[in-house]
This record gives sequence, structure tokens and C-alpha cells, in this order.
Amino acid sequence: MANSHEHDHHHWESAEYVAGWAKGQDPKETSRTEAFQVLADRIPYEKNLPIKILDLGAGYGALTKFLLECFPNAKAVCQDGSDEMAKLGRERMKNLAGRFEYMLCDFSKHGWSKLLPGPFEAVVSSIAIHNVGSHNIIRGIYEDAYSLVKPGGCFLNFDRPRPPWEEQMKWLRAAGFKNVQIFRQEQTRAVFGGFKDA
Ligand SMILES: C[S@@+](CC[C@H](N)C(=O)[O-])C[C@H]1O[C@@H](n2cnc3c(N)ncnc32)[C@H](O)[C@@H]1O
Repeated sequence: MANSHEHDHHHWESAEYVAGWAKGQDPKETSRTEAFQVLADRIPYEKNLPIKILDLGAGYGALTKFLLECFPNAKAVCQDGSDEMAKLGRERMKNLAGRFEYMLCDFSKHGWSKLLPGPFEAVVSSIAIHNVGSHNIIRGIYEDAYSLVKPGGCFLNFDRPRPPWEEQMKWLRAAGFKNVQIFRQEQTRAVFGGFKDA
């Protein structure tokens, strides 16, 4: 999957690599809380509604977990290409069992979005899509994300400026999203995204 692309130096398919990545990430996890909160607050639904969330490249579920806690009646689909990340996520989100399911597919391969049980009120992602590297493929992922969002819903991405955010925002507008904005910008990461007309 992901590391078949020349830009991706990660080895997400390896249990050892995933365990090492998670261990390195754990002490940094609190640095994402504010960005996750900004993202959660941009989801255009009341917090008590039973919305469906799709987390692209969900990993062990840091963003999914945060959102399921903010939206106590929501359910989530965690999409990822790595079986090892899914195993870790199921373990780490044990207390949320029944409210999420992992679906394994590669979002850089044509047709991935048809495998997912959409539409979703919120399609989200964190530090995952930049792994793909190819501009054309990222643009395609945004088109697929649009097809997965329910009218009135949103796509919100917390990611690095690779490619530059302005470029990615153009692709989101071209895919059909409205009111595309950067909602929070840090030095190397931003929360950005847009909305689908109701
Ligand atoms: C840096 S981790 C981030 C995980 C999680 N979203 C987070 O913020 O903690 C990137 C994740 O994207 C997944 N990923 C990378 N390329 C992918 C692809 N082409 N298709 C599906 N998942 C992919 C990896 O397996 C990994 O779980």
C-alpha cells in the first residue's frame, strides 16, 4: 500500500514499525488536542446527534477516539491500509468497542471509496494523506472524499503542507466543497477543509 509510493518512507505494514511509531507518537499526543478540538468544533452538527464519521488513514485512532468522545452518539469507520495499525487501534479503543469499525483499503488506489459504507456526515483525516506524495492522487482522494460526504456534511483534514495548503484547498474547491478554509494553522500542520451544500 502506502510505501509502494516513492515519496512514502514509512513501513506501515510492519508490526515492529507501527509499534515504534506509536511509541514515538504517544508523548506528543497532547500537542494535537487543540487542533483536534478545532476540527471537532467545525463539524456542522450538534454534538448529541448520531452522526457517522469516516477517518481516512485513521492509524490507531487518535482522531477517531477524540471525536467519538466529543460526539457521544456518533459511530466511526476507521479506514487504513495497514492491518497492524487496525490491530493496534482495536486494542487502544477497546472502551469504544461497538462504536467504530476498521475497513482496510488503500486510498491511493482507484476505487477505494466504493468499498466504504457512506455517506458520512463528517469525513476527517489526520497526518495521513500527505503520505501519498503524488499530487494527482491526493486530488483524486479529495474527489472521492466529496462523494463520501453527505449533503450538509464536511471534510476536515489536519495535515502537513505537502503539497502546500493553498494548492490542496484549490483541489477541495474543484472537488465541489464550499467555504474551503484553513481553520487553524501551526508551523508544520493545519486544520483545513470544506463543506458540502445541504
Ligand atoms: C502518520 S500515521 C497517522 C495515523 C492517524 N491518523 C493519526 O493521526 O495518529 C499515517 C497513517 O496513514 C495510513 N496510510 C498511509 N498511506 C495510506 C494509504 N495509501 N491508504 C490507506 N492508509 C494509508 C498509515 O497506515 C498510517 O496508519
